[in-house]
Formats: sequence, structure tokens, C-alpha cells
Amino acid sequence: MNHFLLDGAEVPFTEGDTLMDAAQRAGHAIAHLCWDARLGQSGACRLCTVRIDGRLAAACTTRAQGGQVVENRTPELDARRLRLTQMLFVEGNHFCPGCEKSGECLLQATAYDLGMTDMHYDMMAPSRPVDASHPDLWLELNRCILCKLCVRASHETDGKDVFAIGGHGTGTHLLVNSPTGLLGDSALSTDDLAACICPVGAILPKRRGFAVPIGKRRFDPPDNGNDPT
Ligand code: SF4
Ligand code: FES
Repeated sequence: MNHFLLDGAEVPFTEGDTLMDAAQRAGHAIAHLCWDARLGQSGACRLCTVRIDGRLAAACTTRAQGGQVVENRTPELDARRLRLTQMLFVEGNHFCPGCEKSGECLLQATAYDLGMTDMHYDMMAPSRPVDASHPDLWLELNRCILCKLCVRASHETDGKDVFAIGGHGTGTHLLVNSPTGLLGDSALSTDDLAACICPVGAILPKRRGFAVPIGKRRFDPPDNGNDPT
């Protein structure tokens, strides 16, 4: 078994692991929004940027090698993560107290973990539609952070290519591959990985509001017995 050092802790890895794969498996958290163990590499969000032997790189796309010295939770790296997180908040419309995903949302949990107390940037307040056309799922584009997890899940796992990313710059947006562009006319079904992998509240099941009460959710404080990783 090989090892690398993550903030001074020895982390074992197997051949082919990325730094993120090995760290998560060993119970060491590295911030991420576009990584998921069930999918291949992406490198879209850059939240996972670490210093490897002094050089900045994404932990989710960098292969682990024996003897690497990796810095993760440093003030410099967390400051970068905070700015990225604030940019994501102002780029969309994220009203956590009224969102069904609150307490289960990776963006919200990341903001708490980084000690985010303000937006830093001016709100862009975009006007985006809510697609309620699917009988069992909502698509709330105001909350989409363009992590591409649904795009990749639909392509790599579900074999349907229901989602894609279109546009440029601030006009970049999530597209639905259907004759009308609406979710209800797509091939998405509730048992698809793409339907349940969204890290924020952009893709949600209908008729399941607050099934898990506030205080008992994944990212609620650890003294509730929940797993914060
Ligand atoms: Fe990511 Fe969710 Fe947006 Fe898909 S809908 S790109 S999973 S935030
Ligand atoms: Fe590595 Fe998003 S988790 S770039």
C-alpha cells in the first residue's frame, strides 16, 4: 500500500486513485462540488484545489503518488474556496431557509464549513424558469451551480444524455435534451442516477417535501449523530 501526506496525515491509496478518491475513502474531507465517487473525473468546480509539493492542482483529477506532500486546509486555500463559493451564491438564487435541500445541500454545507457570513460580491439575481413539467421531478434552475454531475450521470451511468451544458460566460446554463426542452418530455426517470445526484436543490423529487426533518439531515451538526462527510 502506498501513502501520501495530507495536512500531515498519512493517507493510503491504491494505484489509479486520485487524491480525492483516497482522501474521501480514508475519511479526510476535501472540499468538492463536482466530484462523486460513482462517476469519473471532471475538474469543473475547483473547490478541491490543494497544494501538492507546493504546486496548485485539483485533488479530484490528480493521481495520488507515494510521498506527495499535500496541503488542504490552509488559510490561503480556504480563502480561495470561500471566494469561489461566494461567486456561486451570487450567480444564482439560493434562498436556503426556504429550500427543501437545506441541511442536505453541499453548497450550503461548504459555505458553513468555510465560515461564509456574506456574499462579498453583488448579487446577479438572474431570472430563471422553474421546470415543473415532469410528473415526478422538479428542475429549479435558479439553484443550479453547473457542476455537471447530472450531465455526467445521465451520460456515464444512465446512458440517456438527458442533460447538457449550453451557452457561454454568464449565459452558461443547463439544457434538457427533449423535443420541447422541458424535463417532462425527456427520458429522465426517478430511478436514474441523474435524478438524485444533484448536490444542491436544483433537481428534486415531487411530493417528498421535508421527509427528513430539519435537525436530522446529513449536514446538520454532528452532535445529532449525522455523518458530515
Ligand atoms: Fe449540478 Fe444539479 Fe445543476 Fe445538474 S442541476 S448541473 S447536478 S447543480
Ligand atoms: Fe475537484 Fe470540483 S471537486 S474540481
